[in-house]
Amino acid sequence: MILCVCLNPAVDVTYRLDAGLHPGHTHRVTSQEQRAGGKTLNVARLLTDRGIACTLLAPLGADTGRSIRADLAATAIRTSFVEITGPTRRTVVVVDPTDATVLNEPGPPLSGTEWAAVLERYQALLPTADLVVMSGSLPPGVPADAYRVLTALAAEHDLPALVDAGGPTLRAALAAHPYLVKPNLAELAGISSGPLHSTADIVAAGHELLALGARNAVISCGSDGLVAVTETGSWHARAGLVTGNPTGAGDALVAALAAATVSDLPWPDRLRAGAGMSAAAVADPVAGHVDPNLQSALTAGVTLTPLPAPSAASPPTLPP
Ligand SMILES: Nc1ncnc2c1ncn2[C@@H]1O[C@H](COP(=O)(O)OP(=O)(O)OP(=O)(O)O)[C@@H](O)[C@H]1O
Ligand SMILES: [Mg+2]
Repeated sequence: MILCVCLNPAVDVTYRLDAGLHPGHTHRVTSQEQRAGGKTLNVARLLTDRGIACTLLAPLGADTGRSIRADLAATAIRTSFVEITGPTRRTVVVVDPTDATVLNEPGPPLSGTEWAAVLERYQALLPTADLVVMSGSLPPGVPADAYRVLTALAAEHDLPALVDAGGPTLRAALAAHPYLVKPNLAELAGISSGPLHSTADIVAAGHELLALGARNAVISCGSDGLVAVTETGSWHARAGLVTGNPTGAGDALVAALAAATVSDLPWPDRLRAGAGMSAAAVADPVAGHVDPNLQSALTAGVTLTPLPAPSAASPPTLPP
């Protein structure tokens, strides 16, 4: 079972406008949708759709929390919710004919008792887990080193942890030696000390993540695919270029990597699976949904290139 920890779930609200969004003006919304969201929740959706056993652990509160419960009760996702007092957050996406504008609420503050209840539930679930996934932002009240704590508790059960985060959240988690971290380029930039202009730069930054404690790192580079720096080698992987909605592509990458890790596939196959599934996610307008036929087609076409380890003698790959 893959344990998916979603500390800051959200009701994702989408407002559609038939004319451009103008700050300071009043707009008529032409249609409105809402559904349960949050990064690890998307991972759990994708895994469940593929028949891969997982459990979603999340704190939920008030009416928005109840709406997530109701939404997920209509799916096959196995859930373990911890009731909290504060209302689960909403994220609002305003889609106009040319753009999407996102408003992210910070999330409800968790009291010390509520955070302790989440940790207690997590520890109760660990004995039945094969791998833990944690991704996304932390709500107020949860300690900044929450992913370090969760990773360290997983290690007590010899469980690998997959952390998809950036900034101080990722930096703190590295101290507990997560099996795999998956920052995107912007998140990597918040941690690495050097530039990220070339593939060689990204490999060097990946090695920095390993030096800071990660056992493996997959850096997602948007439409340029991904760069993996692992215990057994480094690779660049890229599926064909897809146009569409890249939001949630990182979650699809994490879901594929989690599933392939639990199946103990060799790294090159994990990366093909990750690049293919995340590219297919771009074609789907809804985060947390991927067409399996497109996923198979794109996975079959992934280009995988082994990369040399960085060395002082490596020539730069970009002109000076
Ligand atoms: N236009 C694209 N065409 C093909 N593949 C893409 C495209 N955009 C993204 N991908 C794939 O999706 C992966 C994840 O994308 P990205 O780096 O944008 O993740 P992210 O920023 O973490 O996304 P999010 O957090 O919104 O889910 C990339 O590593 C790549 O494999
Ligand atoms: Mg991401």
